[in-house]
Amino acid sequence: MPSSCRRLVHDPDGHNAGFWPIPAEYFVTPSNVFFTRSHAATPQIDPATWRLEVCGLVDRPRTFSLAELLNFPERHEAATLICAGLRRDEFLSIGPLPGELPWGAEAASTGVWTGISLADVLSAAAVSPLAKFVEFVGLDACEREGRRFGFGGSIDIAKAQCPEVLLATRLNGAPLAPERGFPVRVVVPGWIGARSVKWLGQIRLSEEPSSNYFQSRAYRLQREVNQNDLRNVTAGVALTEVSLNAVILEPIADQKVPAGPVLVRGWAIGSGGKPLTSIEVSANEGRTWTAARIAVEGRRWTWTFWDATVELAPGTHTLMVRATDSAGTRQPASAWETWNVKGYSNNAWHRVTICVLEPDAKPGL
Ligand code: MTE
Repeated sequence: MPSSCRRLVHDPDGHNAGFWPIPAEYFVTPSNVFFTRSHAATPQIDPATWRLEVCGLVDRPRTFSLAELLNFPERHEAATLICAGLRRDEFLSIGPLPGELPWGAEAASTGVWTGISLADVLSAAAVSPLAKFVEFVGLDACEREGRRFGFGGSIDIAKAQCPEVLLATRLNGAPLAPERGFPVRVVVPGWIGARSVKWLGQIRLSEEPSSNYFQSRAYRLQREVNQNDLRNVTAGVALTEVSLNAVILEPIADQKVPAGPVLVRGWAIGSGGKPLTSIEVSANEGRTWTAARIAVEGRRWTWTFWDATVELAPGTHTLMVRATDSAGTRQPASAWETWNVKGYSNNAWHRVTICVLEPDAKPGL
């Protein structure tokens, strides 16, 4: 790994960490550079005794061993996993977000996942026509409001039946690492990372969305503060698809670069898997924009790598990036427009301020 790529850790046990900045050659994030977001310790699971229960509104409730699950046809899917807390740190200039991890843009990684289609498992269990949601429950032990329970959440039945939604057993060709969800995790391409439940133990079909804390009390977008209970977002909307987003990877904040042509590079992704139609960079507060070049074209469910060259004179400059997708969606200009109570889904124009030196000065941090 290049020495400029650093591990940023958000908790004392290292259950929440990412790497920054992602090098240009890491379009597929190496497994040891993938970000990790876990709400509790990694459970130790014996694959020989592990079982997956499929229950609720199904005509044939089933319990699968790992070997039985692997009898379904194998499927590969390249997908970028993005935590809903991505770029939450930019909200801290507006106000504190107590109890929330201050993720920067490091909470996103791209992997090639191998597993089986959730849709195949659902059809083996004969889903009832009454089922509208598919809930996933993990085997970890989260503690909230005086209770211990497995992390969980649900997706709607239409997405669950799409072939890209995987029960994954491998990342980038190797078995999942313990912290990545071994032996089996869900991967929901195009949706917030929280629905890609790790250490999967149960799939439950239901008429209602999951009542799990991480669906009913967190991962909800609410802009109005409840004055009786400042952190409460139960009145908000449960997050589903990832937002259109674009991030500058390099230069990094406060980097010193020589005056002249400056290479800016980063990633962008459309909302919920939609293709990108433009990526533009500005170095003058949006007065003019330079169209970025596609450096590595993304697949349906992955980020795209882009770069652009801007001509900069000595002084302090703020670089900005914005993208548009095929639905015509544009990114809001400022974090004041995207702010919400728990700090999710920040997709305001990403800004990085750098210091441009006289042409013969030595670059660096
Ligand atoms: N699944 C379980 N069981 N427990 C968790 O804490 N975190 C979720 C999701 N699945 C989580 C989980 C969140 S918020 C994200 S962003 C992704 O896993 C992160 O996956 P990763 O750690 O493999 O990057």
